[in-house]
Amino acid sequence: LRHFLGIDGLSRELLTEILDTADSFLEVGERSIKKVPLLRGKTVCNVFFENSTRTRSTFELAAKRLSADVLNLDVQTSSTSKGETLYDTLRNLEAMAADMFVVRHGDSGAAHFIAGNVCPDVAIINAGDGNHAHPTQAMLDMLTIRRHQKPFEQLSVAIVGDILHSRVARSNMEALRILGCPDIRVIAPRTLLPEGIEQYGVRVFNDLRTGLRDVDVVIMLRLQKERMQSGLLPSEGEFYRQYGLTSDSLALARPDALVMHPGPINRGVEIESAVADGAQSVILKQVTYGIAVRMAVMSMAMAGQTTQRQSRQGAE
Ligand code: CP
Repeated sequence: LRHFLGIDGLSRELLTEILDTADSFLEVGERSIKKVPLLRGKTVCNVFFENSTRTRSTFELAAKRLSADVLNLDVQTSSTSKGETLYDTLRNLEAMAADMFVVRHGDSGAAHFIAGNVCPDVAIINAGDGNHAHPTQAMLDMLTIRRHQKPFEQLSVAIVGDILHSRVARSNMEALRILGCPDIRVIAPRTLLPEGIEQYGVRVFNDLRTGLRDVDVVIMLRLQKERMQSGLLPSEGEFYRQYGLTSDSLALARPDALVMHPGPINRGVEIESAVADGAQSVILKQVTYGIAVRMAVMSMAMAGQTTQRQSRQGAE
């Protein structure tokens, strides 16, 4: 691993290695994650062109637990407001001896572009690009499932809501397929499903109650209004009535079904408060596990990048 840009194309062995590594950081307990020297002397830059609470904060905590120096670029007050391009912003950060960029950007493909064309010698971690991919979210979701449910090969998982605009849905469908989950369901109105969704090997349901029947895991998604044209925007009340996860609709899933959500949650729009805060919810555990998963991905990518650099120097 030199960069971590997406889930598609990765092997089951690599995903399992990431989960095992993350588990090793959680060894001492669910909430107390060890500090280790794996990134001592390295500089990690968080560069978020879109807002974030969970991803940015857990990447920062993860980098600190790995003993890295951390720089958080405040894009709102940076010179991007004076017209500086993404290319020049990142080349300048690279000149400050950055070893890793954690990048969130509104354009699908931004992280791939940076890794291929802007700073190939810096490890790039995709923290969410447009509606394309959010690979570390998918890995922390997989870790949550692995720690609290049956093996992937025995699971039914439903992903519910705005699939069309969701990079989390795409990365989760890919990760679940690679890890051997035999029953991946997506539940959404037709207007919030992308064309060609079947290529992910999923079963599509337009009716929530039918789709939730006997599932082991329910992953709820918020309506991404910021990515919708006004004509597509469903009424929140109507959406909640048809697709909101309530105690009633959750009762159709298996009694020990996990309730998950990448956040931010919109209470009363896609999920009832009693369910979000209820006994089956692992929504806050997902956040905690995010630190361990990001530690795993960053340490593995940095090791890969260092090996690559050393072999190139040896050849020169
Ligand atoms: N899950 C997630 O990406 O949340 P943030 O937008 O707060 O980072």
